[in-house]
Amino acid sequence: MANSFTVAVLPGDGIGPEVMAEALKVLDAVEKKYDVSFKRTLANVGGAGIDNEGKALPDTTVDICKQSDAILFGSVGGPKWETLPPDEQPERGALLPLRKIFGLFCNLRPAIIFPALTGASSLKDDVIKGGFDILVVRELTGGIYFSTPKGIEGEGSEKTGFDTMKYSAAEVERITHVAFEAARKRGSKVCSIDKANVLSTSVLWREVVERVSKEYPDVELSHMYVDNAAMQLVRWPKQFDVMLCSNMFGDIISDEAAMLTGSLGMLPSASLAEGSFGMYEPSGGSAPDIAGQGIANPIAQILSAAMMLRYSFNMVAAADAINAAVEVVLNNGYRTGDIYQGGDNEKKVNTSEMGDAIIAQLNR
Ligand code: NAI
Ligand code: MG
Repeated sequence: MANSFTVAVLPGDGIGPEVMAEALKVLDAVEKKYDVSFKRTLANVGGAGIDNEGKALPDTTVDICKQSDAILFGSVGGPKWETLPPDEQPERGALLPLRKIFGLFCNLRPAIIFPALTGASSLKDDVIKGGFDILVVRELTGGIYFSTPKGIEGEGSEKTGFDTMKYSAAEVERITHVAFEAARKRGSKVCSIDKANVLSTSVLWREVVERVSKEYPDVELSHMYVDNAAMQLVRWPKQFDVMLCSNMFGDIISDEAAMLTGSLGMLPSASLAEGSFGMYEPSGGSAPDIAGQGIANPIAQILSAAMMLRYSFNMVAAADAINAAVEVVLNNGYRTGDIYQGGDNEKKVNTSEMGDAIIAQLNR
């Protein structure tokens, strides 16, 4: 009897459904190749949820997600819904509740630059020659974004805004385990990012990370202050494998790392709960400027599906095979518009042609 997994498929808005179609084709190919079955249920989210069922995260969608082993998410939002009250808008109304309902405490943001695409980076050739592959592990439910008290009080020049930054040892411990487990499946290095020269939360953070690291003698641990890390990322990104960050530092560092690759349409992400449940989605948005034209880059969505196989279904070989197929297709010159640079061996393709090329490579 073949392995079987259930997947809630939430394509969302804009280019979401277009790139999701390609990721689902890749899952079809994986089913055939690896004797596994993915039982998929489609559900509305974001603007599609608002238009069809009256809210960004319909109850039926939540139920479908609860009955699934993982969520494959497209992207949400667009000009049509921007005049709604903030909490009802596609992004806030769907993404924040999903994080809360499913306890998604950990955000994994790879910043990968494939050797064939180093020309798209803002960094100098000799800095990124051969590409790089960084995984930012960001704590997602604690720290300064959520701790209380927070607010604005007083009047006039005494009016004061305040936030609180808190982390418990337990919160630091569980995210640290994720980072070390991930490092074991990659380059075996963790760099923990903090500001331990100034912040008490960072002193605790460092203490807990040190303690947990003893359980992973095969993984090399280093510590770096966040301001230095921001500098080191642009100076020599190849020194990093896994970067372990608190919520706010990870928000900033992951965007910086992503942009060094120069291609938003290429980057996947994962948000994990305790156990194996997770939500997988491209780092970019719904790209209203190119939606409906069939020209979006499906690679971020396809690599998000690969992350689902790796982290929720423990199908490491299949995930590696998808990543390898993407790399070969890029080496062979296939380019959607966002990564096309007019080089001699480049072939400009649309969304479904890119998906087909990756599947053909996967089937070889
Ligand atoms: P965006 O990521 O949608 O687009 C930024 C630029 O990148 C655009 O020029 C777009 O064409 C390009 N781009 C993004 N993904 C691409 C792909 N796969 N292939 C080719 N080009 C791609 O960000 P923007 O414009 O700030 O936001 C547009 C909408 O998306 C907004 O409604 C925003 O709220 C929403 N959004 C949703 C997110 C989510 O669902 N998680 C995340 C970020 C934004
Ligand atoms: Mg951000």
